[in-house]
Amino acid sequence: MLNNNKNTGIKITGTGRYLPDKILSNLDLEAMVDTTDEWIRTRTGIEQRHIATDDQPTSFLGAGAAMQALEAAKLNPAEIELIIVATISPDKIFPNTACFVQKKIGAKNAVCFSVEAACSGFVYIMAIGSAMIESGLFKNAILIGAEKLSSIINWNDRSTCVLFGDGAGAVVLERTLSTEENMHIYSKLGSDGNHSDILHVPGGGSCQPFSQTVLDKKLHFLAMSGQEVFKLAVTTMAAAAKETLEKSGISIDDIKWLIPHQANTRIITAVAKRLNIDEKKVYVNLANYGNTSGATIPIALDELVRGGLINKGDYLLFVAFGGGLTWGANLIRW
Ligand code: UT7
Repeated sequence: MLNNNKNTGIKITGTGRYLPDKILSNLDLEAMVDTTDEWIRTRTGIEQRHIATDDQPTSFLGAGAAMQALEAAKLNPAEIELIIVATISPDKIFPNTACFVQKKIGAKNAVCFSVEAACSGFVYIMAIGSAMIESGLFKNAILIGAEKLSSIINWNDRSTCVLFGDGAGAVVLERTLSTEENMHIYSKLGSDGNHSDILHVPGGGSCQPFSQTVLDKKLHFLAMSGQEVFKLAVTTMAAAAKETLEKSGISIDDIKWLIPHQANTRIITAVAKRLNIDEKKVYVNLANYGNTSGATIPIALDELVRGGLINKGDYLLFVAFGGGLTWGANLIRW
């Protein structure tokens, strides 16, 4: 997806993140399920994850990240025209979580909706939000990846509970009329519903509404075929990143930071190898947060921005995959 409207573009004017205070370490997990710190570290790269408390729903985390991003952009909440939240752990089945964020931050003039593209959620809303601004429909937006995955995890299932964490990241996008300032170079999105059952929450939706059976069989928790997801993650992310580079005429050597979805360091290493990118340019913070699904990329971006590790003109490549399957990439020039 290229910006064909040459008169308008987007710039990222603020970033933010919110991680709940409570930390669950691998050692804590050893006391909960049959696992070891060594297994988790060597198979995934994760050392700890943040966990939200009962009174911190997804919108609370999202609002925290959004307020930081607004402050960085020097905008008042009332000036925001659009809020998009990427999440698979919404506050409620409906209304959409962006409406709850709107209420919490007081963005009374915003149009609000959520996107359910799992771990690819942020890459999806980056493409959607950019297109909505580039088209002239809105002059600014807050894009938020926010997850309270701890609420859909079976804490007795060692094959999934060690992998995920809670958190949120946000960016403020604003319209620019200057081609010099336009940051959005290209977005590639993909989906394949044929693999919808390898990473999903089987029960509690309209397919199998919530019932005692759903509860007894624990179908309201996330279920995953780890190895299948692993293989598809590597192929789809590498292909999306390659196509994005090719279509925009940018070489992998031009990329300052590859910011991949953070699910497993072995997946990230395999993707980096296929792209032939220097591993020093691949941003990895998985050890601290685990997999926060749609929040991983905006959290990583905010760390890089606040750490002073991105300079004007740098090319950033976001790439992700997730349940659906969904996958995608965004190329940004800072
Ligand atoms: O964002 C998208 C979401 N998901 C992902 O990206 C996940 C993609 N998949 C993965 O990252 C990996 O497949 C996992 C980390 C989930 C699993 O790693 P793996 O190397 O594929 O392990 P495996 O599933 O083949 O399991 C190997 C062994 C099994 O034991 P046996 O059958 O060899 O005796 C598992 O029962 O490891 C066992 N195992 C564990 N052992 C200790 C599985 N989970 C654990 C655990 N602690 N937490």
